[in-house]
Amino acid sequence: MQWQIQLLLVVLLNGLLLHAKDLQECELVKDGYHVCREIESFDQLNQYVKNGWQSVKIVNEHTGIEITHKPMPNLAKLIKLDLSESGGLTLGKQGFRQFELLQELNITHCQLEELKEQHFSNMRNLLSMDVSYNDVQLIGEQLMSQLPNLIYANFSNNLIAEIEPNAFKSLKKLIFLDLTTNEQDNVTIGENANLRYLSISNNNVRDFHWCRLRGLPKLEELHLHSNWLEVLDVGIFYHLPKLRVFNVSNNNIYDIKPNLFMGPSEVAITPLELLDYSSNNVKLLDDNVFYRLNNLRTLNLWFNQINKISAKAFQGLTKLESLHLQGNKITALPDHVFANLTSLEILDLSRNALRQLNRETFGNGLLGKLWMLDLSNNNLEQLHPLALSSLPFLRELRLRRNKLTTLDIRMFAPLRRLQLLTLSENRLEEIDIDILDSFDRLTALEINNNKLTYLPVLKSSNYLAQLQQISIEGNPWQCLCLDEITAWLDTRQVRYARPSSAYYSGRKPLCVVTPMEQCIRDLNSVRAQGIVESYEQI
Ligand SMILES: *[C@@H]1O[C@H](CO)[C@@H](O)[C@H](O)[C@H]1NC(C)=O
Ligand SMILES: *[C@@H]1O[C@H](CO)[C@@H](O)[C@H](O)[C@H]1NC(C)=O
Ligand SMILES: *[C@@H]1O[C@H](CO)[C@@H](O)[C@H](O)[C@H]1NC(C)=O
Ligand SMILES: *[C@@H]1O[C@H](CO)[C@@H](O)[C@H](O)[C@H]1NC(C)=O
Ligand SMILES: *[C@@H]1O[C@H](CO)[C@@H](O)[C@H](O)[C@H]1NC(C)=O
Repeated sequence: MQWQIQLLLVVLLNGLLLHAKDLQECELVKDGYHVCREIESFDQLNQYVKNGWQSVKIVNEHTGIEITHKPMPNLAKLIKLDLSESGGLTLGKQGFRQFELLQELNITHCQLEELKEQHFSNMRNLLSMDVSYNDVQLIGEQLMSQLPNLIYANFSNNLIAEIEPNAFKSLKKLIFLDLTTNEQDNVTIGENANLRYLSISNNNVRDFHWCRLRGLPKLEELHLHSNWLEVLDVGIFYHLPKLRVFNVSNNNIYDIKPNLFMGPSEVAITPLELLDYSSNNVKLLDDNVFYRLNNLRTLNLWFNQINKISAKAFQGLTKLESLHLQGNKITALPDHVFANLTSLEILDLSRNALRQLNRETFGNGLLGKLWMLDLSNNNLEQLHPLALSSLPFLRELRLRRNKLTTLDIRMFAPLRRLQLLTLSENRLEEIDIDILDSFDRLTALEINNNKLTYLPVLKSSNYLAQLQQISIEGNPWQCLCLDEITAWLDTRQVRYARPSSAYYSGRKPLCVVTPMEQCIRDLNSVRAQGIVESYEQI
């Protein structure tokens, strides 16, 4: 019995091996670019490579690749080598010495534990090296100095804890250096005259002084998200005068110091365009904290603990286009706080604890670019009727999940360009005919889950001429009123039913049957009849 099973195994294994061997081949994918399968060594590869081949990718499913010690003249002409699917790499003594003209090397997912300098000793032409997803622990100075022409170096997803002092100093052309997801707890990259992009995100970096980055005078993007930073040193532009993108999201930073963005006084325009400070512990936005950022386009402050914003917190941000403040603890906004943000296009204040919006929150002037305002998930009970009068260009207004009981026509009358309005999950009992009349460009309206029992007479009118979509369920509609509404929506071919929702699948009621013979459009009678209450009891 046992020998039978063994025989079967042998037959099966042979089958697999034969299969694997059979698959060994190279095919042309497009001009000069070849994919070679089941290659066990560079020696084998050398036998396939012909004159005129430029780029090879090795795809191994059944084997890794080993590097043997023989002359391989055909490999010396390759420009690109991709070993990311080679199934693991054993570099032997030779390493990549044969690849004298190679410009692009991809050794991601190769199970490498170290990068030895002798393996890369003949690669002066290398421009791009991707070492992501290995187990490398150290970047050596000797190794890097052999790659003087490198432009792109990606070491993400390794175990790099140590970088030798000035390992990148002699790489005069390096532009991108990615150290995301490693084990760095200190900033030790030393000098590099040309570097534009640096990421040390998702490491264990703790607080440090900007002078540790002063050797990077051309740095434009610095990504430090997902580390253990608590305090940022002041005067960032003294050391990084060209910084355009700065991401410190997902750390434990508890404030934004007024002098953080300080730089030499002769620099009139600070270059920063994007600041991502989201998911930290900032509590207060003080006056003038962003004052110097006169080129900033995007400011992400979502998911901090902000509970106080000073009236002049955003002063100076004349080019700001999008401001994200969602997921904080803001209960009130000072007058004029957004007044000077004349380039603002998107403002997200959702998921805070705002109770009201004042007349002067957006100032007296015009915010002529603002088209998206998100106020959903707050505690808004009151909106000053003129609170949005500075925003006539709004196209999207989101007010879902608040505590609004009434809407004022003075609020909506200036919003002639509104296309999307969400009012769902509020406490509205009535929507005035004049308000509906002002929605002449609206294409999508959400009024579900309020306390509406009827809408004004729609039949003979031209209201909501552009409407394509509306959500109405979850209101205590009088059934007769709802019939009228749906008939009107049907003739106008407006979508309203969401078949997957509990309301349209019969699990929750869509309306209340009343003893009256017609749709009652009078709030006092509706209240007298207790329609809302009887709906809530169903
Ligand atoms: C290296 O290969 C991986 C996997 O195929 C790919 O995702 C990555 O973009 C490549 N790197 C470069 C620099 O092209
Ligand atoms: C480095 O590689 C990682 C993983 O493939 C990739 O997500 C990242 O975008 C690369 N970095 C750069 C700067 O291209
Ligand atoms: C970071 O490295 C520098 C120089 O290598 C050293 O002086 C400093 O003490 C280190 N900081 C930490 C927190 O290890
Ligand atoms: C900043 O880092 C976070 C990760 O915490 C990431 O989600 C976000 O996209 C980054 N922002 C930019 C602008 O790259
Ligand atoms: C808006 O700008 C004017 C003129 O520069 C200035 O006087 C005022 O203090 C600014 N207001 C706010 C709230 O930033």
